[in-house]
Amino acid sequence: TSLAIGVDIGGTKVAAGVVDGSGAIVDRERADTPGTDVAATERVIVEVVTALAARHDVTAVGIGAAGWIGNDHATVLFSPHLAWRDEPLRDALGGRIPLPVVVENDANAAAWAEYRFGAARDDAVVVCVTLGTGIGGGLVADGSVYRGAFGIACEYGHMTLVPDGRRCACGNRGCWEMYASGRALARDARELADESPMAAERMVALAGSVDALTGLHVTAAAAAGDPAARSICTTVGRWLGRGLANLAAVIDPSVFVIGGGVVAAGELLLGPAREEFEHTLTGRGFRPPARVVAAALGPDAGLVGAADLARRYARPAG
Ligand code: BGC
Ligand code: NA
Ligand code: ZN
Repeated sequence: TSLAIGVDIGGTKVAAGVVDGSGAIVDRERADTPGTDVAATERVIVEVVTALAARHDVTAVGIGAAGWIGNDHATVLFSPHLAWRDEPLRDALGGRIPLPVVVENDANAAAWAEYRFGAARDDAVVVCVTLGTGIGGGLVADGSVYRGAFGIACEYGHMTLVPDGRRCACGNRGCWEMYASGRALARDARELADESPMAAERMVALAGSVDALTGLHVTAAAAAGDPAARSICTTVGRWLGRGLANLAAVIDPSVFVIGGGVVAAGELLLGPAREEFEHTLTGRGFRPPARVVAAALGPDAGLVGAADLARRYARPAG
């Protein structure tokens, strides 16, 4: 099969790669996401794609973007964490990239990659949950990505878990991603540092300052045995499990694949998540439980899935 380029655009990093038909990445490019500057972000996408296309014979480009993508596979309707509002991303890139371009939601792309090449290869109904800046969601059922009537299905991160809870960038309060994401880890750590500086000492030392604390510092401190960081992972893991139980009530998947940077915490997060999932699952004891597993492709899932989907969706040029 042919080679395709996948580009994963997150809140902080643009990761791109050339992906072959077996899901292997044969070449890579990386850049920082230029803040909230739409034109600069598009320039960076063109740059990484142009660099990769110069080195390989590729047939399509898949863009996995952290936002709500219309069913035209072309328009970013909205993005809570990026500046895109009703942005015709495919057409904006089209003139500068002489290849078929397909736009997909980042987590839909990750779900597809885990189903095709990763932790969910033998599963008929796959729910993927990515924990990064926010929570991304995807559903692969009967061999295809479920996108809903308008392309906005599986925005799991914006389920209300806490009525009138923490304010979210989507305009609502109490969304799941405010309680179980990289930002949630960082927020809990900063709160602890305010209340009890001694308990948060190790995480703050890793970060350099309270303001610089991110989810990565929390998962790193937890891995190194810091009790405060571990307890934050437990709290966030429990919120994760609660949300999974809600999703099981609606979707009934055979597996939950958990990806994104936060899953670096491994069992410190997944252990409490499974426990809470089992304790809050509707009809527990009377239904086969879904597995809760870590993503096999790690941080590459989004770009691998975007490339593979582009190969499928893109009509041959010419
Ligand atoms: C956005 C999703 C995105 C996810 C992960 C959420 O806040 O609404 O579209 O997939 O973050 O990047
Ligand atoms: Na999604
Ligand atoms: Zn929200």
